[in-house]
Amino acid sequence: VKLARYVDPLPIPSLISAIGSSNKIIDIEMRQFRQRVHRDLPPTTLWGYNGSWPGPTIEVQSGQALSINWTSKLPTRHLFRVDHSIHGAESSIPEVRNVAHIHGACVLPDDDGFPEAWFTANGEHGPKFNPRPSFYPNGQSSTALWYHDHCMGITRLNIYAGLAGFYLIRDEAERTLNLPSGEYEVPLMLQDRLFHRDGSLYYPTVVNGPREHPLWIQEFYGDMNCVNGMVMPFLEVEPRKYRFRILNAANSRFYHLRLFNTDGAGKSLDDSFDDVPSFQQIGTDGGLLPTPLELRYLLIGPAERFDIVIDFSNFKGKYFSLVNDAPAPYTMGGQYVAEDVMLFKVTKPLSGKDTSTVPDTLVPFEALEPTYATRERMLLVSEKERPSDGYVIIGLLGDARWHDPITEDPKAGSTEIWSFVNITGDVHPLHIHLVQFQVLNRQPFDVQTYQQTGKIVFTGKPMAPESNERPAHKDTIKSYPGFVTRVIQRFDLPQGAPTTPGEELVYVWHCHILEHEDNEMMRPYKVVI
Ligand code: C2O
Ligand code: CU
Repeated sequence: VKLARYVDPLPIPSLISAIGSSNKIIDIEMRQFRQRVHRDLPPTTLWGYNGSWPGPTIEVQSGQALSINWTSKLPTRHLFRVDHSIHGAESSIPEVRNVAHIHGACVLPDDDGFPEAWFTANGEHGPKFNPRPSFYPNGQSSTALWYHDHCMGITRLNIYAGLAGFYLIRDEAERTLNLPSGEYEVPLMLQDRLFHRDGSLYYPTVVNGPREHPLWIQEFYGDMNCVNGMVMPFLEVEPRKYRFRILNAANSRFYHLRLFNTDGAGKSLDDSFDDVPSFQQIGTDGGLLPTPLELRYLLIGPAERFDIVIDFSNFKGKYFSLVNDAPAPYTMGGQYVAEDVMLFKVTKPLSGKDTSTVPDTLVPFEALEPTYATRERMLLVSEKERPSDGYVIIGLLGDARWHDPITEDPKAGSTEIWSFVNITGDVHPLHIHLVQFQVLNRQPFDVQTYQQTGKIVFTGKPMAPESNERPAHKDTIKSYPGFVTRVIQRFDLPQGAPTTPGEELVYVWHCHILEHEDNEMMRPYKVVI
């Protein structure tokens, strides 16, 4: 359907704050419900945490643990058709299964939402199920994490149905910066969707490639952008600074965003940046940056978070649309551009002097240098056909499938460089559980030579990462085709980790294009004590 843009106000997810509360355990229940996503659509049937899309924003204090009792009241039939040929989604197991993962959190494996730790509303569960509430130590610095479903083989459908929310960690360092806060700090969860005229969500089941798969599609692209569960909403703002916590929670879409000076209907008045506020990026996946960066464009891959400030002070009465021009698939596609994201209207009267600040220095950054690394692992990012039936296109990492023996086995506390060797034609947003890593560089290599000989022949010097990728703490990184993308991380374990030598803690790493993740572009790895 075609829907009018900028007619509904931006919803703000409800807040569950564990700060200053003696309650160290909270209940979050997954439910089916109906919610309006646009003025001109009947309410949409959705799945959400505590019955909302997005789920409630959970706010915690750094260093103060929280347990979450995740439960389900979801029905036994899925909202979308499940492809049982996908590994982990066989028809012999319950169709609706869930497990929650806090993306970017440093937690023990039992609490990490392992894909096979799923459970159902009726008490069935997968092999790795943890019957206790999940324990989150929150030992990290202030940042925006997010929680979402992580069930083997159907993550793409569960998140598409609405199972995602923000998880904000606060600390003193952040507080002393005096950044815009309270109603001037706004989470923005970006997702693209397809809707039927009756308001229901549509998830296609036809692949557009040469070889047909029963239901699974290689990537999902919707024609409408939703922010916080509303189609192309608007936000009325005061002429002052606002902090936006942007999360790309789309299945496959990359966002390349800029602001346009527009009229009330969102029609662009001018192509230049002359009369448009800039983005000041102050943080990313794992926390605040050492210094703010002034940017005109934001390129946000699936699962990445951008913490930005926009200063509307000099723009009283103006309208700005947030527009996406990233091709889909990224970067070689072009068929599915969902351009309009949302509209800012600087039409709210200033309620008081803006005393918030964006200091020139934010937080110190401790760099992990390559010389600290005990090992560099070359990890293949490829797309292959499944040998068993040949016609199925699947994603592979390191040429191995989910159930093959674990090959990545870093020692607890050790520092390693992981080098993603991308021989596909697309950018894959790669995510490693447990750690916040640092990006080192990207180096071009000859893909053809690699395919013929298995040898990496570099065709250029390593290129420095983007200014918002280093110095920065990241948990998801864009792996570009024809490049080796290098990240460095220390495999520190959270509070309460076992200390017996030889013990193994199993986590996962995967592509965060959910269609890829569901179809084998995910591997376990283990941290060895
Ligand atoms: Cu955002 Cu493995 O997850
Ligand atoms: Cu991928």
